Amino acid sequence: MNVNSIHISNYRNIGEMELFPYKGVNVIFGENAQGKTNLLESIWLFSGFRSFRGSKDNELIKFGEDYLKSEIDFYGAGREQSAKIVISRQSKKILLNSVPVTAASRLIGNFNCVVFSPAYLSLVKGSPSERRRFIDSAICQIKPSYTKSISDYNKVLVQRNSFLKDLKFNNSSYDFLEIWNQKLAQLAAVIINERISYIKRLSATASDIYLGLSGEKEQMDIEYKMRVSSNRYESVSENVDAEHIEKLLKQSENSDIMYGSTNIGAHHDEIDIKIDNMSAKSFGSQGQQRSAALALKLGEAEILKEITGERPVALLDDVMSELDVNRQDYILNHIKDWQVFITCCEPSTVLRLCEGKTFEISNGRLK
Ligand SMILES: Nc1ncnc2c1ncn2[C@@H]1O[C@H](COP(=O)(O)OP(=O)(O)OP(=O)(O)O)[C@@H](O)[C@H]1O
Ligand SMILES: [Mg+2]
Repeated sequence: MNVNSIHISNYRNIGEMELFPYKGVNVIFGENAQGKTNLLESIWLFSGFRSFRGSKDNELIKFGEDYLKSEIDFYGAGREQSAKIVISRQSKKILLNSVPVTAASRLIGNFNCVVFSPAYLSLVKGSPSERRRFIDSAICQIKPSYTKSISDYNKVLVQRNSFLKDLKFNNSSYDFLEIWNQKLAQLAAVIINERISYIKRLSATASDIYLGLSGEKEQMDIEYKMRVSSNRYESVSENVDAEHIEKLLKQSENSDIMYGSTNIGAHHDEIDIKIDNMSAKSFGSQGQQRSAALALKLGEAEILKEITGERPVALLDDVMSELDVNRQDYILNHIKDWQVFITCCEPSTVLRLCEGKTFEISNGRLK
């Protein structure tokens, strides 16, 4: 997969920009606050996922303008393709190969890219929900129907929670709780099993990358931990069945009713990242945490490549800082056959280690 051209109008601080990237490494450099991350973010939008900075659509439009427009020509699935996004203050229009698509999520699976930005450090340092979100969107990218499993699960969860409150305050019939347990357990089993099988694959790819990054000195492992009661987790590596989850929900009923919320299920599970058998979150150094997050993202890209047969486009925002030269060298070697957009303040760091095309950005324009 590679981008042949990008045409941007009014995207954040970028007024007008036309760019013809190289098939290999593209180094986007410039001083702070010039628009480097904005450029990466404008490419990422075509993945069909939300802004990796968590921004709302309206915030992406250049201050003082009414709309933004972004277009790319790319090569993917064996043919030349194009995509266009126009966002105004009232609406959002998306075209894939000149055909309108109803929602951005419909782009998922068409233009595949992976992004790494400093915000992804929270994959290792942040709360369990960050890791669940990462695994869930990675699965969505290779299995778009998983999006529906997640949204069905969340709907049933809301309904069970509101029923729990009903039970507490209105003495509703307990019989219905069994129905909600059953429904939720079935959907939870689908989600948990998808996550477990994805983590098996990710463990293999990401651990390999981490080993390389650390110069074969450190081992990274990923574990899925299922919450089995309000304060206990169990590692699981094989499929779980819905009946088992239903049993756990049954056991948790009393405390669920007391709290008015569901204490067991896919929304509470944890994904543990360990370096040399110790929690990376609690004991990892800055460089180790950064390396682990990077290994997870590059591992995700590797899986995407195995499944689609194509290397996704890699967007690496500010990855070089805090990594020693050996680690920097490993990353650039690892992705040398991919199309990469890598931002930095000083291009010589990257160009010392690999060849590539450079683009200097100043005040939202290409120099
Ligand atoms: N909607 C918007 N309209 C105009 N400018 C915006 C908008 N949103 C953000 N900006 C501006 O874009 C500028 C550049 O942001 P960006 O994050 O791309 O910088 P950067 O080159 O990646 O810098 P750094 O090296 O610090 O990461 C910021 O100064 C910010 O104020
Ligand atoms: Mg930036």
